[in-house]
Amino acid sequence: MNSITSILVLAFAATSMAAEVCRSGSGDLGQSRVLLCKEVGCTGSPETGAQLQIGVNYGTCCDIPTTFANQVAAVSPNSEINCTLFDNTNCTGTSVTVTGRVNDLGSFRNRAESLTCVHK
Ligand SMILES: *[C@@H]1O[C@H](CO)[C@@H](O)[C@H](O)[C@H]1NC(C)=O
Ligand SMILES: *[C@@H]1O[C@H](CO)[C@@H](O)[C@H](O)[C@H]1NC(C)=O
Repeated sequence: MNSITSILVLAFAATSMAAEVCRSGSGDLGQSRVLLCKEVGCTGSPETGAQLQIGVNYGTCCDIPTTFANQVAAVSPNSEINCTLFDNTNCTGTSVTVTGRVNDLGSFRNRAESLTCVHK
């Protein structure tokens, strides 16, 4: 393999290992839904940018979109799932597991950067 090919292979390998950004918006959100809220109690609306619904596939890690990373104060997974939120991207670092709506993440407020969810 010549050196240019090696560099391209390494670059591809490095990017393909990173967790995907969680799905959001109007497309297919995948198997389940989690509401991320910037305000304690989940006040505010999606229109003002205070809430974001993301989609997750069971057992898959995704990175919280940059507009909400480190800004999540409350979270509401739908009733079929438990979710674990992580301090860092790619589901690494300190974590907290939520098994239902949490109106105030307390010491984990404004820390989550990625999450993964399982079907109950
Ligand atoms: C993300 O996590 C996966 C699974 O633990 C790991 O294989 C991969 O190297 C990580 N990617 C990055 C960019 O840290
Ligand atoms: C989800 O959380 C509930 C409540 O803590 C627990 O009883 C259940 O075993 C969990 N399910 C999974 C798959 O982690």
